[in-house]
Amino acid sequence: MSGLIIAIDGPAAAGKGTLARRLAKHFNLPYLDTGLLYRATGRRVLDHGGDPRDVATAEHAARTLLPVDLERGDLRGPEADKAASAVASIPGVRAALLEFQRDFGAKNGAVLDGRDIGTQVFPNARVKLFVTASAEARGKRRYAELLARGIAADLAEVTDEIIARDEADRNRSAAPLVPAADAITLDTTALDADAAFMTALKMVEHTLS
Ligand code: CDP
Repeated sequence: MSGLIIAIDGPAAAGKGTLARRLAKHFNLPYLDTGLLYRATGRRVLDHGGDPRDVATAEHAARTLLPVDLERGDLRGPEADKAASAVASIPGVRAALLEFQRDFGAKNGAVLDGRDIGTQVFPNARVKLFVTASAEARGKRRYAELLARGIAADLAEVTDEIIARDEADRNRSAAPLVPAADAITLDTTALDADAAFMTALKMVEHTLS
């Protein structure tokens, strides 16, 4: 399906990444986890002892981001989550990362997941999914992911952190987390990864038919 853009947005730990990867494989499209751009920008600020909320420092980190930064091993976990969310609220950071995302999809199409793919990055995407789940389900999933990565965590803290980050992402003025008017919502609260994929695939095929 060369040229097809599938935009997947939604709150933290809703299962966007797993779903996006599987849809990309199915349609033979490249996949971009756009959260990594914000995570890597936040990490670059922290590397130099900076504050991710500092506009000039964060914008400089975003403008000088290199593809290799996305391969760092420390882009997950509570510190990276908070730094990503902080830099993501800065309009100049978002502007600096926009071109890379558009270029990624421009040539052969792509599946991209994030918060503003269907609203800002590819507002004309042919397929837009808004993937969500209850905060409780998302907290449990993120907790299990952290344990699987060997990162010590507390379920209540992880859930609270997710709720706080969603709140910040929803209420910021720059590209807030909001479903695009033409997005299809997929609630994965009661679905495992296979069921979420099968449901999403039907939605995508229906949109393309
Ligand atoms: O994996 P998880 O859903 O927890 O987060 P992520 O997709 O890696 O995104 C981390 C943070 O980056 C989010 O909380 C947002 O603040 C920001 N982000 C964004 O603003 N726009 C995007 N397109 C992707 C991520």
